[in-house]
Amino acid sequence: MRTHEAAAIGPLDPVGAVNTARSDGVHAAWLPPEAFGAIGARHSLVCGDGVLVDTVRDEISRACARYGGSTDRPPPRPASPDRPAAGTPYDLVLALVPAALLPVTAAAVQVGYQRRHGAGALGEEGFLLARHAEVTVVLAEAPAGLLYGLFHLVRLGESAFGLTRPTELHRPAVRLRMLDHWDNVDVHPVTGQVERGYAGGSIFWRDGARRDDLTRVGAYGRLLAACGVNAVSVNNVNVHATEARLLTDGLGDVAAIADVLRPYGIRVHLSVSFAAPVALGGLPTADPLVDGVRTWWADTTRDVYESIPDFGGYVVKADSEGQPGPFAYGRSHADGANLLADALAPFGGVVHWRAFIYDHRQDWRDRSTDRARAAHDHFTPLDGRFRDNVILQVKHGPMDFQPREPVSPVLAAMPNTRLAVEFQATQEYTGQQRHVCYLAPWWSEVLGFAPWGDGGPTVADVAAGGGLVGVSNVGDDPFWTGHPLAQANLYAFGRLAWDPRLDPVAVLDEWIDLTFVRPAPGCPGPVRRALHAIMDDSWRTYERYTAPLGVGFMVRPGHHYGPDVDGYEYTPWGTYHFADRDGVGVDRTRTSGTGFTGQFPPPWRDVYESPDRCPDELLLFFHHVPYGHLLHDGSTVIQHIYDTHFAGYEQVVTMRRRWEGLAGRLDPGVYDRVRERLDEQLRCAQEWRDQVNAYFFRKSGVPDARGRPIH
Ligand code: GCU
Repeated sequence: MRTHEAAAIGPLDPVGAVNTARSDGVHAAWLPPEAFGAIGARHSLVCGDGVLVDTVRDEISRACARYGGSTDRPPPRPASPDRPAAGTPYDLVLALVPAALLPVTAAAVQVGYQRRHGAGALGEEGFLLARHAEVTVVLAEAPAGLLYGLFHLVRLGESAFGLTRPTELHRPAVRLRMLDHWDNVDVHPVTGQVERGYAGGSIFWRDGARRDDLTRVGAYGRLLAACGVNAVSVNNVNVHATEARLLTDGLGDVAAIADVLRPYGIRVHLSVSFAAPVALGGLPTADPLVDGVRTWWADTTRDVYESIPDFGGYVVKADSEGQPGPFAYGRSHADGANLLADALAPFGGVVHWRAFIYDHRQDWRDRSTDRARAAHDHFTPLDGRFRDNVILQVKHGPMDFQPREPVSPVLAAMPNTRLAVEFQATQEYTGQQRHVCYLAPWWSEVLGFAPWGDGGPTVADVAAGGGLVGVSNVGDDPFWTGHPLAQANLYAFGRLAWDPRLDPVAVLDEWIDLTFVRPAPGCPGPVRRALHAIMDDSWRTYERYTAPLGVGFMVRPGHHYGPDVDGYEYTPWGTYHFADRDGVGVDRTRTSGTGFTGQFPPPWRDVYESPDRCPDELLLFFHHVPYGHLLHDGSTVIQHIYDTHFAGYEQVVTMRRRWEGLAGRLDPGVYDRVRERLDEQLRCAQEWRDQVNAYFFRKSGVPDARGRPIH
């Protein structure tokens, strides 16, 4: 197989921006043509009908055209498992079951599988992979399963055709695996075309209108299907005037996007404004209990489904950071969410109602109000009052996507509500796609967290019936995500949503194999080694040189890039660290603080309450402690701040050196883009190190025990 490692795939374009495997100048990400080499060189049979099966067929045909294999439709005369078609000339059979036209091998696999698991075991999206009589067989009960099975084969490459393989059954652990785009249709004066977007413009919208050419959206859908994502919301949760109209006048644009994503099994969702009945419908009120309002939503939603029969549903940010909501009418979030849920229910749609609600007009002197408490305070009294098609979308931590936070206690407090966990792939607080920060280890930690203690259900279990949502990191940048290595976050989001138990290092390996090189077994290769060295621990490296011990929010206000230790300290946003000459951290205990620890069930309410038992990495999230407080490793808090900031910076120096070792081994476009970003990461890490160390030295007066320069 040809590898990317050996072959630079084209010269830099005149502006030096791109260098890609595709003629349209867009990087192929984890689906370069080479990834299809093993499939394309073989003889395949694809059985089944429908849009998604056609996608499978097209993918295989394209691969065969490149690699010399062939693909067939089923033989013309029916066979059955009792009377299968005669022996098969195929290396690969992908089939929907029960199928009338199976060749003998697939029929045998089907019979075996049904005997063992029973019909229905694969569900809407699952698939079975087996190797039988020298044929690789993928069986699915529904078309989406066949598509996911195909991309599984792509991941496996040649090993899918090895002499023996154990039979594998794959089904997604989480039903809804969704990406939310914070894309605006109009360029917003403050937040731009994409709010918190670090990868150029939007792939859907440009300067107030839908893009005419949606080719890029199709390519995006293909990438998402290949990592397991099945839903996309196409506009910002902060719904401004033009974006609100997507629900009515702009529906044709949403339908056009849905048409392009449908062949990849991706349903489109829309962020809507709670005030739409007033703003768009001309009604005097948007009160959820008023009949006219209910009728308006029911009629409007019916029209949506007439245009987009498989429309996924609405996403709503209500009564949060200035967005309208039910509070204006003295109604609850359950009243608001249920209004939309009732309109969507006849068509099978869902409402993603966001739980990101807090007082953003706080007084920093008031130590009793605690933003971390807000979602739990607002929503847990409503448990059991939401309709079945409401999904409460909860940020994974109680604050706002900081590099370290505890898991949100809401996830353990609403047993009678469907919950989705929201992650942020776009790196708002984690280096804005200028820093390497592989987030999968962080997400994996959250998904594996057991809110009721070891051995109990995990966050992934809680999300299984609701969903996993990622704020997208994609834009119209040639590399999709600005930083080429940030593609790994998007890939890993999908893979962890499909199977939260996957090891993030193994997921990174998959991504490296597909994107860069597939080395011979047992031969790791310099690219793989360097990428692991740079990326495996990059989230912890980022944590080391930024805000310490879980305290968060030492970023520059507004754009949130780079250090400003007191930047948010005296603002109304509820994001404080309370550093003074004696100590630092937020007292969230029941004994003397805001009582936030009491929102967790045992054992965590007691673990977090105790400064001795609280995990070090969250110490300052839960406690205000003196600088001399001893951590579990025997270091003091102040010495830990110095040590981690010096170490984090040095790790970035090493990262950059590792990357430079790859010069000449990679596509020069990728190489140069990453190197340029590593230069900026290094500059910024130094700024963080020096500002944070100088701040705490000046506040505390405690010198560094190792005598390093601090200003
Ligand atoms: C953060 C982010 C905003 C975003 C908000 C949200 O506060 O900075 O840009 O709108 O989260 O999740 O709604």
